[in-house]
Amino acid sequence: MIIIKLGGSAVTDKSKDFTPRPEVIENAASQIGEVSEQVILVHGGGSYGHPLAKEYCLHKGFSDLGQLSGVSQTRYSMTQLNQIILSILLRHGVSAVSVQPSACFICKNKRISHSFLEPVKGLLALGCTPVLYGDVVTDTEMGFCILSGDQIVSYLAGALSPRKVVFGLEVDGLYTEDPRTESAHLLKDITFADLDSISAGEVGDVTLGMKGKLQEISEIPGIEVNLINLIRENTLTKAVSGEVDGTRIHR
Ligand code: IPE
Repeated sequence: MIIIKLGGSAVTDKSKDFTPRPEVIENAASQIGEVSEQVILVHGGGSYGHPLAKEYCLHKGFSDLGQLSGVSQTRYSMTQLNQIILSILLRHGVSAVSVQPSACFICKNKRISHSFLEPVKGLLALGCTPVLYGDVVTDTEMGFCILSGDQIVSYLAGALSPRKVVFGLEVDGLYTEDPRTESAHLLKDITFADLDSISAGEVGDVTLGMKGKLQEISEIPGIEVNLINLIRENTLTKAVSGEVDGTRIHR
């Protein structure tokens, strides 16, 4: 089994609110359709999640009633992106079924404290592809919080022991520094131990996104992690076959 995260920066246009990138989703879906083992998909929010979450300060938890409209709108918006991704996956022959993270995860201070994974396990046993996504979920300390797709991936990896985890990005993988700087170079093959020194430095894709991602990756217990560019063709297929065109992180 393999867990694949479709990063929000890749599957949406982050410069325009509520704008998907159908050609990137198509590219991923066509490759996912060819995978011959069990797959769990998790997608991010990109321009369907982050702008609303920021506007209503959802990352800080409940403070006033005015945020509740933001909770509803963010949840609604994430399901809309989810449906767009689902429709493309179905067209490519993937038996994709949405699983609502806010109905199977509870957090405590932004970390998953309880889960109900039977629906995910049941779908996998049937041969379906569960599709989860970053969401607004109940937090026992904060009222609600933003649960990132990255945390869902690391949690599922710990609970379900996949063969590998693949993070699909809008850049080629993990760089020594911000990939927009000229001196940045791609890290092709590193170990989990190397991550400590990398995350201590200034590593980013376009935002702090990569820093949080690295923290989540360091929680994944010894399972091979690949970071690949979802915008380029065949990168997912290559990662699945072991011929990683991006960054490979291993024990
Ligand atoms: C964010 O999920 C979800 C919301 C803001 C509701 P992620 O943190 O996984 O999204 P990306 O991949 O960074 O866009």
